[in-house]
Amino acid sequence: MRVIIERDADAVSLRAARIVADQIRRKPSSVLGLATGGTPLGTYRELVRMRQEEGLSFSRVTTFNLDEYVGLSPSHPQSYRYFMQRNLFDHLDIDPMRTHVPDGLAADYESYCRQYEQRIEDAGGIDLQLLGVGRDGHIAFNEPGSSLGSRTRLKTLTSETLGDNARFFAGQEQVPRLAVTMGVGTILESRRCLLLAVGESKAEAVRATVEGPVTSQVTASALQLHREVLVLLDEPAAGRLQRREYYQEVERAQTLLETGQLRALGIGTTLDGGSHGDGSRTGGSHNGDGASSTHRGD
Ligand code: GLP
Repeated sequence: MRVIIERDADAVSLRAARIVADQIRRKPSSVLGLATGGTPLGTYRELVRMRQEEGLSFSRVTTFNLDEYVGLSPSHPQSYRYFMQRNLFDHLDIDPMRTHVPDGLAADYESYCRQYEQRIEDAGGIDLQLLGVGRDGHIAFNEPGSSLGSRTRLKTLTSETLGDNARFFAGQEQVPRLAVTMGVGTILESRRCLLLAVGESKAEAVRATVEGPVTSQVTASALQLHREVLVLLDEPAAGRLQRREYYQEVERAQTLLETGQLRALGIGTTLDGGSHGDGSRTGGSHNGDGASSTHRGD
């Protein structure tokens, strides 16, 4: 896991949007996994700005959302499809046929969920999966106890999640009890994951995700098993991390690598003060989002 701590929520959004944009520029036909909730809103705003002011094109991009409430139609203002349209898709040059949000009104969920998985596979798999995290450490709607190998399916929401999401509805009794959600196993198959968390209310979930044991009680902790995860936090969300100084040290080393300052890292020098060649670019290559082939902090 690579843990990046930014000064505030705005800086998290800008950095996340830059990572998504780099992915699209590198591979215009990218398949993105998208999330809803308050956390990714700033990222979506910045992507819309990049579309409008910098011409970033989504014309060949395909998207799959993580989840949807059962019983809400796409036009329901609290549905995740509605959220995605209003906050992102409506402002992009994306082909509507390439945007996928699970159907909250499917008649036969078993076969619908299998189809959703199949569509992800047919699209070539998810290149970059954006994730938020619930206060209890859930990703998508994989509530505590979800199998870490789970696939897209129906899930019953916990009372904590119902309470957290009640702010968007007329009251807690209005929040749907069930959701259709990608499974933890589905998410782990994405090529890269980008988990965002901001605010003090997420600090405990972040600690458990990054530094706790891998457990189905905190489904985000399963990301420790993934080979390429970036955890992007603001200061308050990072507040309970024990190894926070080490993560910042890793980032400083990463910056030196990316800017070719290899000698400052001891690359190309020997301990007795001698040097090997000019030490140029032997420490790994910059791949556009700060991940080098030999040093990624993961
Ligand atoms: C819901 C969503 C998650 C999201 C979480 C946190 O449970 N299913 O995908 O990460 O809420 O939302 P927020 O970003 O609003 O804190």
